[in-house]
Amino acid sequence: MTTTLESSTTVIQNPGHGEAFTEHMISMEWTEATGWSAPEMTPLQNLTIHPGMIGLHYGQVAFEGLKAHRRADGAMGVWRPGDHALRFQRSCRRLAMPELPVETFVAAIDQLISADQGSLSDDPTHSIYIRPMIFATDVSLMLRPSRTYRFLLMAFVAGGFFGENTESVSVHVSHDYTRAFPGGTGDVKIAGNYAPSFLAQREAEAAGCAQVVWLDAMERRYLEEMGGMNMFLVRGDQVVTPRLTGTLLPGVTRNTLLTLAERLGYQVAEERITVDRWRQECLEGTITEVFACGTAAVVTPVGQVRDRDGDFTIGDGKPGPVTRRLRTALTDLHHGLAADPEGWLRPSAE
Ligand SMILES: Cc1ncc(COP(=O)(O)O)c(C=O)c1O
Repeated sequence: MTTTLESSTTVIQNPGHGEAFTEHMISMEWTEATGWSAPEMTPLQNLTIHPGMIGLHYGQVAFEGLKAHRRADGAMGVWRPGDHALRFQRSCRRLAMPELPVETFVAAIDQLISADQGSLSDDPTHSIYIRPMIFATDVSLMLRPSRTYRFLLMAFVAGGFFGENTESVSVHVSHDYTRAFPGGTGDVKIAGNYAPSFLAQREAEAAGCAQVVWLDAMERRYLEEMGGMNMFLVRGDQVVTPRLTGTLLPGVTRNTLLTLAERLGYQVAEERITVDRWRQECLEGTITEVFACGTAAVVTPVGQVRDRDGDFTIGDGKPGPVTRRLRTALTDLHHGLAADPEGWLRPSAE
């Protein structure tokens, strides 16, 4: 490991989302003969790649997204890195790529956060978004899995995904495009899932909405996800999320909120819910709140739904009490302000 690099000292203000990169990156290589190389930390820098690289042409590329937060005591905490490591392994398996051991994944994150934590201000709405990724490096245009790979770890300082506000957003139900299909790759986090979503996202924006609501591909009526987020509905004391059918990404935030909701005394349920039933239950007031959740979105309330079969408002269109309570419970855990019996917040190595 490289140990002579300077740690970052320049605090990033007004980070936005996705472009305020921190100063370092970690790299590892894999070959069939040697397995994974030792991690090397360098300044964040451009790569030199061959134009015939398999990852570039055939999309043998997977990634993760997780966050490190500054805890109230000033130390850093990384949110559920072991669970993200396991999902990264599943994504790699699905694309016939080698798996990175969980301990190696987590140790690389510790090293990067330790070097780059100085970029994060004390603003509790800011965090370090960590991006592990792997791509196929063989130079070949044969349609076959690569025999060599590169793992990279980089990070950026993140403000809010939807800006700094936690006001309600509006969402657009996509009937023309679907995100995932049975037997496909919807339950893993691979690059190829995202480019096909851009056109639907553009359509949502043209309709004045912040995000897409994805329906299932077979019947085009069951709610699945929202953009790059999972979704929840609230019916009084019941907190409900679409069931994992194999076409939804099993979000770490989704899993966390199911546990937290139960701990806070709500009934939790995983259901298959049609868009028609969703509309009807919102119109009659049975569904009182809806929110999206994910590493980037945290917990984001949804106020309006635009759908070709009829637009509707959720509750009074404003963030509801259950959404706010769950959001606070989650962000308190992120910042080390609440009991963490599961040990989800990993203290960073100093
Ligand atoms: C398609 C999709 N769904 C849901 C999520 C939320 O997952 P997580 O809570 O693990 O960030 C993400 C983000 O990773 C995503 O890309």
